[in-house]
Amino acid sequence: MTKTILPRTAPLTGDYRPEGDKSLSHRALLFAALAEGESVIRRFLVGGVTRAMLRCLRQLGVAWELDEAAHLLRVRGVGLRGLRAPAAPLDCGNSATTFRLLAGAVAGAGVPCVLDGSEGLRKRPMGRIVEPLRAMGADVEAVDGHAPLTFRPAPLHPLAYALPVASAQVKSCLILAALSADGPCAISEPGPSRDHTERMLAAMGAAIRTLDPPAHGAVVLPQTAPLRPLDLELPGDISSAAFLLVAATILPGSDLTLRQVGVNPTRTGILDALRAMGADITAANAATLAGEPVADLRVRAAPLRATDVSGDLVVRMIDEFPAFMIAAACAQGRTVVRDAAELRAKESDRIAIMARALRAIGVRVEEFPDGFAIDGTGAIAGGATLDAHGDHRVAMSLALAGLVAREPVAIGGFGILAESFPDFPRVLAL
Ligand code: S3P
Repeated sequence: MTKTILPRTAPLTGDYRPEGDKSLSHRALLFAALAEGESVIRRFLVGGVTRAMLRCLRQLGVAWELDEAAHLLRVRGVGLRGLRAPAAPLDCGNSATTFRLLAGAVAGAGVPCVLDGSEGLRKRPMGRIVEPLRAMGADVEAVDGHAPLTFRPAPLHPLAYALPVASAQVKSCLILAALSADGPCAISEPGPSRDHTERMLAAMGAAIRTLDPPAHGAVVLPQTAPLRPLDLELPGDISSAAFLLVAATILPGSDLTLRQVGVNPTRTGILDALRAMGADITAANAATLAGEPVADLRVRAAPLRATDVSGDLVVRMIDEFPAFMIAAACAQGRTVVRDAAELRAKESDRIAIMARALRAIGVRVEEFPDGFAIDGTGAIAGGATLDAHGDHRVAMSLALAGLVAREPVAIGGFGILAESFPDFPRVLAL
């Protein structure tokens, strides 16, 4: 579906409660499946990526009921070793989180199965989970480091592993497998990737100790007792909220409040980066939901200036770069991002795809192997037909560009946004 985004003159105002966090929805669902007893999950994200996890778990013998309108999910847990061998390959669609987290779970449960996904997912690097899983003893075969992966039952053993790249998906995969190993596992990473898995599993009774700073990672002991079921409401997704934070910052006159957004410090890099650019974002009503910090974020339109992003900040805003690039284009001056080669391994090569799209609508972008520079002028020309390249966050970011551009911006494959933020077109009246 091609969508034409027209320049918008009206400010963004009012109150909005973003849909449930994608990372937490995946985890709550999968961990509930591995618990013993019935779990209740409120504000569950009903998106393409979580539907993939739901489908796979049903194939693995897990019963669940989803009230889509209420975003209410009930899951009957089968226990850590209760997953059933599926009759057909598990199709993870476009969801790398589904793929990598399930890989750890099926390796741990000793379930013979094939994990597969969309053409896009088959291009994503899976050697990063295959190598450490094999080092634990898993019997897993890949196709040249990529999906499909074929698992056969094998006992898992202790592992001490340092991830070469900070990744919550890889870390979570290994933590899940480690629960079924016959000794302790230590997993470390070079930066502070999101720690939702550690928090949620610990609350369910897993023996997980996070490493003390400046180290990052966790030590996991074998799980002997059943995991306790969940009864919780999830925070709003800061990665979805980020699109609205940028939109309200660059649309003159805007004043928008986003309710109960997850503000786990491993996810708030976008707030730091936008504030460093002069964005007017304040937080209020701090609370805890599902063991995670949440707050109401109020954002008012503000002029932006360029900034630099590198190091740990990249990890803490890893999903927000497409939206951030629109903010940088609307800022005055040269914004430089480094240490971000990982952006090339996301749903698309986000450096190359966004650079090409931005150039087509009049933005000056320089590409580096590990980042980019944008020479912001405060304005975007627009007047081009672009493509989302099967990447939900590229689709939504290009829509933001269209809202502030002088000429309309058409976006091919726009519907992909429903992978993570189905409500996006309604909130922005697109
Ligand atoms: C996620 C981790 C990140 C992120 C993805 C969700 C997660 O991926 O990009 O959208 O839920 O663990 P990496 O772990 O590959 O960085």
